[in-house]
Amino acid sequence: MPKCLISIHDFTKEEILHVLDIAREFEKNKSQTLLRDKVIACIFFEPSTRTRLSFETASNRLGARVIGFSDAGNTSISKGETLKDTIKMVSNYVDLIVMRHPLEGSARYASEVASVPVINAGDGANQHPSQTLLDLYTIRQTQGRLENININMVGDLKYGRTVHSLLQALSHFSPTFTFTAPDELKMPQEYKDFLSRKQIPFTETSELEGNISGNDILYMTRVQQERFTDPMEYEKVKNVYSLTASMLKNAKPTMKILHPLPRINEISQDVDDTPYAYYFKQAENGVYVRMAIIAYLLGYK
Ligand code: CP
Repeated sequence: MPKCLISIHDFTKEEILHVLDIAREFEKNKSQTLLRDKVIACIFFEPSTRTRLSFETASNRLGARVIGFSDAGNTSISKGETLKDTIKMVSNYVDLIVMRHPLEGSARYASEVASVPVINAGDGANQHPSQTLLDLYTIRQTQGRLENININMVGDLKYGRTVHSLLQALSHFSPTFTFTAPDELKMPQEYKDFLSRKQIPFTETSELEGNISGNDILYMTRVQQERFTDPMEYEKVKNVYSLTASMLKNAKPTMKILHPLPRINEISQDVDDTPYAYYFKQAENGVYVRMAIIAYLLGYK
């Protein structure tokens, strides 16, 4: 089976660091011709702005050509074709598949039926490993290290696949976690058990403003309406946190605010003009990191 990126556990610590190093080279030299004879499929069964466009940009910047769809309603899936048959077909056409799908486990399933590498661009509330690698890249870029980071994850920690993947990746680097969430959106027990087994410290709180001063990274997340089965439950928590510039008065000067985006109202626009805001540069980093992931999976060292 070809090497894939479905979960962040598919890469060792050494592979993670290797990909981040390649990404740093691509940030310095953005236009490459490494993949000029390759075709890459970006197939998105769920909405996306950053992930799809940055994977397509990354593919183009590597010299590859891109096919795909952003609305499965325009494909033969609408006639009843299975995911298995769709993936088998697409893997006959291309050299690598990038897939986003709402079902947890769908990316792993796709990797088992595909004959080419598959990158999970998000599978339900489960994993978003390319986001994790760009988050790590951004943390290292802003803090000068990955070791001993004090990170406060805020918002939808129950359904947020980006925090689940990032927590697991950071476990290689002796982090300290604060989990800031209302009761309804707390970090699932399986991830807390994972940290306990690794003796990684974490604290849980529902209060944001009083828990910012020790943070190296303040990782904000959106409450994910699309994961709620009961609309009333979403209404109760949708505006639970709103970070404003005035709440940052005791922040470390080196602290940076990250967010996988899109944001709704969990970060006020006045934060954008502070030196702590780094989420738009974080999204830009996605291009260089995705270039590195694609090149690595296609065997370019
Ligand atoms: N961060 C992220 O996954 O954004 P999109 O949903 O726009 O791809």
